[in-house]
Amino acid sequence: MEEKGCNREEAISFLAGLRAEDVHPNQILSSMCTIPHPIAVAVHEMFSATNLGDPGLFPGTLKVEELLIRSIGELMHLASAGGYSTSGGTESNLQAIRIAKKLKPEVEQPNIVVPESVHFSFDKTCDMLGLAMRTVPYGKNYTVDAEKMAERIDKNTIAVVAVAGTTEYGMVDDVPAVAEIACESGCFCHVDAAFGGFVIPFLPDPAPFDFAVPGVDSISLDPHKMGLATIPCGCLLLRDPDVVSCLNVDTPYLTVKKQYTLAGTRPGADVAGAYAVIKHLGREGFRSMVAGCMENTRKLVAGMEACGFIRVVNPIMNVAAFTGGNAPAGWTVSHTRAGHLRIVVMPHVTRDVIEAFLADAASHSTIHKAASSSINYTIRR
Ligand SMILES: Cc1ncc(COP(=O)(O)O)c(C=O)c1O
Repeated sequence: MEEKGCNREEAISFLAGLRAEDVHPNQILSSMCTIPHPIAVAVHEMFSATNLGDPGLFPGTLKVEELLIRSIGELMHLASAGGYSTSGGTESNLQAIRIAKKLKPEVEQPNIVVPESVHFSFDKTCDMLGLAMRTVPYGKNYTVDAEKMAERIDKNTIAVVAVAGTTEYGMVDDVPAVAEIACESGCFCHVDAAFGGFVIPFLPDPAPFDFAVPGVDSISLDPHKMGLATIPCGCLLLRDPDVVSCLNVDTPYLTVKKQYTLAGTRPGADVAGAYAVIKHLGREGFRSMVAGCMENTRKLVAGMEACGFIRVVNPIMNVAAFTGGNAPAGWTVSHTRAGHLRIVVMPHVTRDVIEAFLADAASHSTIHKAASSSINYTIRR
């Protein structure tokens, strides 16, 4: 830190220069985050000084968090669900498994049984909580093999996990089958819908994955992904609102005497922004946003296939994976653990962006150049 500060313009211009070094959103086809909705940005600023970690000082902001959890609970078919706003999917997953561990204090060498598709937040969770992670291989369509999952459970299993919207392929595990296995074995059932939670309910024919499925105990769901909120808004939802109290610690010098959250100081800004988006868009707005992403995903898949790439799965949400080549230079895509080219068609990945990407993919691919001439680029704007 310098002894003397600089003026506002200088500081802002310095930071703008660094911000300009970031990859432009138009080039980002790999991320599950997107440009937040303008109402989320405006409300984020309005609530920037709020701290949900000391809620007695911010009763209004606390009400906003309660409204957010209630709205998402309704979306998950359980208005009475409990929970709180986290710093994203990683914290939600960690806290869900912490609860599962607390509920089985008698288990000395606990394990959790998870699909091969799980996000790496479960590696962190198991490391921090001292758990063994038992991974179940894929069955059909890059979803978990439920029969094999049942075989991996034993008396030391404290939780099973299903993923609704896998990070790599956007697939949805058979949540009813996983929840049934959990019920039969008497262990906790957590659904990681960090990505899919704001997509699946708005699809025309949604797969069952939420509290409507008997036996689902908790759900992670991130407004900062497809909920168009500012980073890092996540939510952990719990079927039993009281179960979270097993994580309580004493907080003698705060306005509340106990705290179950992982973070102490917690932003209210992203939470209020997330609620603003929900209130502003309503189900109708989200349905339309998801329909647009799905339409763009289908355009992408058709265009890529015309270039000679081969789809790995039929996308059921806005994630597509391909074999048959690399992405053209200048675009930020990612690869799955199996090496498939992976593209996430977030709201900022517009039809114009897809059109430009496909044009580059067609000219980049020497092998598939002949096929590219037949691509129809009449993508609606
Ligand atoms: C299914 C799933 N779960 C959890 C996470 C972790 O979320 P975060 O990065 O917000 O901690 C992700 C991130 O992409 C995800 O796709």
